[in-house]
This record gives sequence, C-alpha cells and structure tokens, in this order.
Amino acid sequence: MSDSIKRETFEQSYDERPPWDIDGPQEPFRKMCTQLRGKLLDAGCGTGENALCFAAQGLTVTGIDFVERAILRAREKAKERGLAATFLVKDALTLATWDQRFDTVIDSGLFHVFGDAERVRYVEGVHTVLRPGGIFLLMCFSDRTPGTNGPRRISQPELEATFSGSWVIKSLEHTAFEVRADALEKYFDGVPPKAWFVTLTKTASK
Ligand SMILES: C[S@@+](CC[C@H](N)C(=O)[O-])C[C@H]1O[C@@H](n2cnc3c(N)ncnc32)[C@H](O)[C@@H]1O
Repeated sequence: MSDSIKRETFEQSYDERPPWDIDGPQEPFRKMCTQLRGKLLDAGCGTGENALCFAAQGLTVTGIDFVERAILRAREKAKERGLAATFLVKDALTLATWDQRFDTVIDSGLFHVFGDAERVRYVEGVHTVLRPGGIFLLMCFSDRTPGTNGPRRISQPELEATFSGSWVIKSLEHTAFEVRADALEKYFDGVPPKAWFVTLTKTASK
C-alpha cells in the first residue's frame, strides 16, 4: 500500500522551480501536439507547458492542478504567448463528479503521485470525463528508474492491471522524463528518469 504525495509537498515545491518545470513540453507530448483535435484536458498541468503546446495547435484546452501558484503561472504564460487556454484550480480526484467531457486527457507526472486507492479513483474520473473512444495519454515513472528519489515507480503489469476492462492499451513505449539540470544531478545522478508513455482509449461503456 502506498500513499499519495500530499498537496503541501507540491505547494512547497512551487515556492521554487520544481524539478519537472522545464520551460517546454515533455518530448512525447510535443510529438503528439500536431496529431490531435478537439477538447483536451491536462490533469495535473503544473505551469502548463504541455497544455500550451496543444493550445498552440488550436485545440480547446483546459488544464487543472490543485496548486494555485502553478495555475496562476500557467495563466500568465498563456497570456504572454497570446494563447487561449483555461486553467483551473481543481483536484483531479474529483473528476468523476465533473460534467465537462473531453476528446483527450493528458497526464504528465500525475498518475504516479497517487497511492493505490487514489489511483483507482483518479482513473475512474478520467474515464468519466472522456467521451467514448476518447484518448488518454499517460506519462509516468517506470520501474526501470533506479533508486528511490522522486515518485513511485510503475511496472508494465501494474499498468496492464489498472487499465484492464474499460480501456484499451494502444501502445506502451519506453521514454524518459526531462527534468531541470540541477535536479538531474541532485536526485538522478545525471541520468534522466525512465518513464512510460502510454496511449489508451476508453471503450464505449464501463
Ligand atoms: C510531477 S508534477 C507535473 C506537472 C506537469 N504536468 C508537468 O509535466 O510539468 C505533478 C503535478 O500534479 C499536481 N497534482 C498532484 N496531485 C494532484 C491532484 N490531486 N489534483 C490536481 N493536481 C494534482 C501537482 O501540483 C503537480 O503540479
């Protein structure tokens, strides 16, 4: 059994520049930016770089994060870049009660912060806000990352178990998270943490 990383921990991390706040989208999302259309939700959007990459391609983008400071910075960036995007302070564990619906949900580093029980709740919420056939793009730490710094590691069997039933795993790729240079040395011995990039679709009904 594992606990979720607490809101206070994230609030403190945004007092400075957190390791993941890299001034651009993570590479797998940058590659997807030109390939999608419609309404997109970025769950745990931080300061918005992945969301804004899709907004720049004309998608209707909403980003949510439960840290207000991160959302204020995301709104500032959108304004500075002349991009239309909606950024809301919202807990991703409340998605199941939301009436908004999206063609795509993206997650860069949120899934892996949840404990076992919250993970189930979160995935149910993502399923709820996705339209049938909608796409979920998930990037999370993989169990190929050595050491214990950073969030919990996720194995392929865990992903397959989590997304059995009402999901189809379209692809599961090895990749790595880009982190800020100071954090790379301090926490990961200079080696970018290994990650999964998972493409999922929601089946028609649950
Ligand atoms: C590792 S960071 C990644 C941020 C961003 N996606 C990126 O790639 O730069 C995880 C983010 O999830 C947010 N978060 C964690 N738990 C959350 C929750 N229950 N609801 C909404 N946001 C949450 C944190 O505040 C943090 O901004």
